[in-house]
Amino acid sequence: MPRPILAKIDLAALEHNVGQIKALAPSAQILAVLKANAYGHGIKRIAHVLSKAGVPGFALLEIDAAIRLRESGFTQRIVLLEGFFSIDELPLMEHYELEPVIHSVDQVRMLMTHKSRGIKHMWIKLNTGMNRLGLTHSQLREVEPLLHTYSDQCTFTWMSHFSQADQLKGVDWQLEKFNQLIGCSANPLASRWPKSLANSAAVLRYPQTHFEWIRPGLMLYGSSPFLDQSAHELKLRPVMSLTSQVIAIQDLQAGDQVGYGGLYEATGCERVGIVACGYADGYPRHALTGTPVKVAHTMTRTLGRVSMDMLCVDLTRIPDAGVGTQVVLWGEGNSIDAVAASAGTVSYELMCALSARVSGFESVDL
Ligand SMILES: Cc1ncc(COP(=O)(O)O)c(C=O)c1O
Repeated sequence: MPRPILAKIDLAALEHNVGQIKALAPSAQILAVLKANAYGHGIKRIAHVLSKAGVPGFALLEIDAAIRLRESGFTQRIVLLEGFFSIDELPLMEHYELEPVIHSVDQVRMLMTHKSRGIKHMWIKLNTGMNRLGLTHSQLREVEPLLHTYSDQCTFTWMSHFSQADQLKGVDWQLEKFNQLIGCSANPLASRWPKSLANSAAVLRYPQTHFEWIRPGLMLYGSSPFLDQSAHELKLRPVMSLTSQVIAIQDLQAGDQVGYGGLYEATGCERVGIVACGYADGYPRHALTGTPVKVAHTMTRTLGRVSMDMLCVDLTRIPDAGVGTQVVLWGEGNSIDAVAASAGTVSYELMCALSARVSGFESVDL
């Protein structure tokens, strides 16, 4: 029998989450964010479900994954969120009908040098306060006349990205900047171009940001972008479940310690389960004692330090659990968001960090 750790991808949950997104933003089109192998879920199978659900666009970063989607027959709009990095990519983008995000003056210079005529749509990214990518007011002035030369062959969408849609500061300050920048455009048609701003948090909380294209990522996969509202409360269902089994039992006496560094010490007679899952599988090493874990349908906690291939769980109140008992590290009934919070991180990181050695995962994809 192989090592019992397994990643399950619940495609019905994905369909359900798409339904929730459509209900929240009925008049916007969905540009589903599929970067990083669909946040670790396997881009091709996720793309198939989205395609069946009528999702019209995919956003990713990796040109090779975009090309593989095209070669697998997907006809959706495919947007590359960081555009292109060198002139060499432009013929590929043209050939495979990929749509770049244009976020810098350098990219526009590359377009001019290449004399690219085959790109049919560009997403013009504005810097509205995230200060990572995007054109500022003066950069927009500089590139607009150049981009104008494409307007007979190419259409445009304005876009920007929110830095704090999940927090108290919200989105209005960036939305205002976005409208100001568009208002300054020298192109008389610019105010009529479609717009795209909303990530999951904005899809959920700020309908005024939905416009023509929303860009949900995390919520597709059934996770919450908020600290104060769970995925369950948002009526989202987890797509990824990471499960394993108890592979050994230790009966401890008061004073016995568990695992590397002896970080957990028993205060009396305690029963500990050793689970086949460690940081080499993608479980966060920084998860503290007390991180939620489900063993045989009962919630309990991790104990001590997570090691490369194993972690320890408290079975003192689950006497029926033994070797072979099922453990849900995250997923159905054990929120990945809670596990991430206990490890000082976010569910995005856990999903993306799932290791290729986990069964059910390596076969996942492209
Ligand atoms: C440009 C852009 N749009 C949309 C998203 C999706 O964000 P979320 O996963 O929070 O919905 C991301 C993700 O980081 C992004 O980089």
